[in-house]
Amino acid sequence: MTELEKLQQATESVRERLSLSPKIALVLGSGMSEVLQELEGVQRLAWEQIPHFPRATVMGHAGEWVWGRIEQEPVLISRGRVHYYEGYSMAQIAFPIRLMKLLGIERLILTNAAGGINTDYRVGDFVLIRDHINTIPDNPLRGENISELGSRFPNLLDAYSARWRAQTKAVAQELGLELREGVYIATPGPIYETPAEIEAYRRWGADLVGMSTVPEVIAARHCGLEVLAISLVTNLAAGLGSDTLTHEEVLETTKRRERDLARLLQAVVRGL
Ligand code: HPA
Repeated sequence: MTELEKLQQATESVRERLSLSPKIALVLGSGMSEVLQELEGVQRLAWEQIPHFPRATVMGHAGEWVWGRIEQEPVLISRGRVHYYEGYSMAQIAFPIRLMKLLGIERLILTNAAGGINTDYRVGDFVLIRDHINTIPDNPLRGENISELGSRFPNLLDAYSARWRAQTKAVAQELGLELREGVYIATPGPIYETPAEIEAYRRWGADLVGMSTVPEVIAARHCGLEVLAISLVTNLAAGLGSDTLTHEEVLETTKRRERDLARLLQAVVRGL
């Protein structure tokens, strides 16, 4: 079965159960599910129930799709995501994004946890990604092009919609939330970086580092979705802060900032 046939099967299966026609989707990083509190008329679909969908493996990633309305606007929310470091193929990482496209999604908001490289950043800051650098040694478009989804050689100019970023900054200001902007560098993980790598990435122009998002953005841009990506600085990157850097620290910051992230996401959806 081709990748497109798998996607079509999954689309049919989800359509039978999805009672709304959302045009906007959110992918939430681990522990960033507070926005679900804002959702009315909640319905859920476990990833296992979707044909060909990648299965969840990592702690903290619930692995379900949830939909409902935020301020009247129908939204589809992926609670958790799959990562390269878990061993998934790029096709598997792209699958949920492409499925969203086939379901009629036009705009995608991605959230993630990231280490701060820019020394102006503080733990707990929200940062809009304005561009990326990819060091993951693969991407979802390698191999035969799925021409029904997009072109062979897509560009990544304005991959992180300037229009939508401007709108989001205005919305954040209204809420009194500080929102920075920066360049995200994606690493394969699962190890955190060395201090020397972080210094190198800083010189390349990276402000933030994380282990997700970029493959999803590439898949999303290929099939023409408009993208907004928001990072939460959960820790200072290796060598810049304390001499500890743990997953617990990442989760702790996420927990502390989850409510404000939910407020921001709700306002972004409302502002559409
Ligand atoms: N490095 C890579 N990924 C991350 C980090 C980090 O410091 N923090 C959260 N995700």
